[in-house]
Amino acid sequence: MEKPKPLIILPDGRNIPPTFLGTWNIRTPIQASMAIKAAITSGYGGIDTAACYENEDLIRRGITNSGIQRNQVFITSKLWNNAHGFNSALRAFEKSEKRLGSIDIFLIHWPGPVYSFLETWKALERLYDEKRVQVIGVSNFMMSQLDILLHKCRIKPMINQIECHLWYNDFMLLDYCRKHNIAVQAYSPLSAGTGLLRDKTLIEIAEKLDKTPAQLALRYLWQIGVYPVPKSSNPKRIAENNDFFDFEIPVNHMQKLISMNRLVRTNKDPLQWFDPEYR
Ligand SMILES: NC(=O)c1ccc[n+]([C@@H]2O[C@H](COP(=O)([O-])OP(=O)(O)OC[C@H]3O[C@@H](n4cnc5c(N)ncnc54)[C@H](OP(=O)(O)O)[C@@H]3O)[C@@H](O)[C@H]2O)c1
Repeated sequence: MEKPKPLIILPDGRNIPPTFLGTWNIRTPIQASMAIKAAITSGYGGIDTAACYENEDLIRRGITNSGIQRNQVFITSKLWNNAHGFNSALRAFEKSEKRLGSIDIFLIHWPGPVYSFLETWKALERLYDEKRVQVIGVSNFMMSQLDILLHKCRIKPMINQIECHLWYNDFMLLDYCRKHNIAVQAYSPLSAGTGLLRDKTLIEIAEKLDKTPAQLALRYLWQIGVYPVPKSSNPKRIAENNDFFDFEIPVNHMQKLISMNRLVRTNKDPLQWFDPEYR
């Protein structure tokens, strides 16, 4: 079996494993501890949450209740739209940190206006300098926004977490991130329950390769260089969703899968949308 390439290698040489468990809509302590335990025993690198999911305290309790040591898992959280700006971002980080105990990876959730994300980024650089987080990055940043950030920043974003799946693939953005050494995490890698897993082409190829549609959809992302963040609260599916490293999709099937791209998002367009009040 191939040894999965880490999401990030930290300056001290530790690896952050590639797959993170999505937790949007995980709402009860039982769900949280079952999901976290299943993810860590299945080899996930960590847990993905955000201030706006309103489950950071559940994630903390879930880790404790499932008997997992805090240092066995990396936690990502994200700064919500109403906390842009240098001081607000530091305050928002502190609130999330309090709810989670500690945070390893901190991302700006949505870019919003240039003047605010540049100020916010300075706060993330401060948090990184002070070693309060190990990785800083962004989410939902398009090329034009990354261009501005890369020209102005002191520390480059290490991750961009974006919508990416077989029905929505922005290949130019992926190339851009690769060129600038920014790891891309795919959110909604299974299209957030909008029907990708029932797609005829996907099912047909999955049957040929003796894999599930979810494993094929995730493996596809892996082969185009993207790190998936699948969400499930079902322990069997959680294990299934990190079991895609033992096969290779042949070129002819990859071509068919690439042609499934419809360029239709399930989430908002980051160039069009920014609402500080929205949750
Ligand atoms: N940065 C951002 O702006 C942003 C935006 C959206 C999401 N995210 C993050 O990305 C994570 C994942 O995205 P997502 O939750 O939108 O969608 P997703 O992971 O694409 O899909 C989740 C849905 O698929 C189902 N599912 C999971 N594994 C399955 C399997 N093996 N077979 C069949 N169905 C399966 C889940 O149901 P069950 O739970 O019942 O298994 C759930 O309904 C989120 O949870 C969140 O952490 C980030």
